[in-house]
Amino acid sequence: MQTVRLPQGELEKALAGRPKHVFISGASRGIGEAIARLMGEERHNFTLASRSYNRSLGVCMDLGTQRAQALRLDLADERSIDDAVIAAESKFGPIDILICNAGINLPTPVQDYSEEGRKRFRRVIDVNLVGTYMLAQMAVQHMPKGGRVLFIGSVLARMGAPGTAAYSASKHALLGLVRSMAQELAPQGIRVNALNPGWVDTQMAQESLQRNADAQGVTLQQAMQAALNQLPIQRLIRPSEVASYVKFLVGPGGDAITGQGIDLSCGSVMV
Ligand SMILES: NC(=O)c1ccc[n+]([C@@H]2O[C@H](COP(=O)([O-])OP(=O)(O)OC[C@H]3O[C@@H](n4cnc5c(N)ncnc54)[C@H](OP(=O)(O)O)[C@@H]3O)[C@@H](O)[C@H]2O)c1
Repeated sequence: MQTVRLPQGELEKALAGRPKHVFISGASRGIGEAIARLMGEERHNFTLASRSYNRSLGVCMDLGTQRAQALRLDLADERSIDDAVIAAESKFGPIDILICNAGINLPTPVQDYSEEGRKRFRRVIDVNLVGTYMLAQMAVQHMPKGGRVLFIGSVLARMGAPGTAAYSASKHALLGLVRSMAQELAPQGIRVNALNPGWVDTQMAQESLQRNADAQGVTLQQAMQAALNQLPIQRLIRPSEVASYVKFLVGPGGDAITGQGIDLSCGSVMV
């Protein structure tokens, strides 16, 4: 999709002094919501985009609807991505900070040869990789100097786990996006990174652990303990902890960091 591009000097003059426009995908709950609430303490404008408009709107009402808007976005639908970015820019101007947080984790065991299994594989790649890339591609089109793109990856960008072929492949692939986009966009003053959390206490983690529990014939509590036993720091990460790190990376302190996948993993990854 082509839109009009202003000369860089004029763009910078027009944007000087305005609040930054922060776009967060998947802020209707979990990590995205925690990021929105923490960053909401600063003088920014926010676009919160996910499929469930009502839940994002609830967060926007807490932040103040003068400076926070909820938009419908389905990362599996290209048109929806284009529409969301255009609607976001129409309200608050070019996006300064893009946080590609939305993602899904559906089971994709290798031994599942069903049509449904193959559809799940494609869906995870479509949402976590293809749609996520297209959102970033659209957002950087008008992103000013000093802009930030941050992908929420996963420790499964660093390792595999049974039943997670699509999810793990999608998160590994995000690191490829990060490294390529970081080099391409550095001359425009845009930083591109990924933050890779381990187990974070959200609906997604609960669902994954419940699947593990069902597969092993144990309780959710037992499956969680088994997962935590493998970590040097044996606890779940709080969404607010991820949010604090995001706030740092997209703030002035993150200016010398680009092309990185940064692990926030209770020690499960040591490189
Ligand atoms: N929780 C963990 O342990 C963990 C660990 C490592 C990485 N992560 C990553 O962290 C990110 C956030 O995860 P979370 O734990 O907060 O998950 P969550 O509680 O399931 O929230 C996921 C968010 O993504 C949105 N979303 C899902 N599908 C979407 C689609 N097709 N289009 C647009 N938005 C969509 C959801 O909103 P709607 O359903 O309303 O669309 C929701 O706001 C994900 O990228 C995940 O892979 C999580």
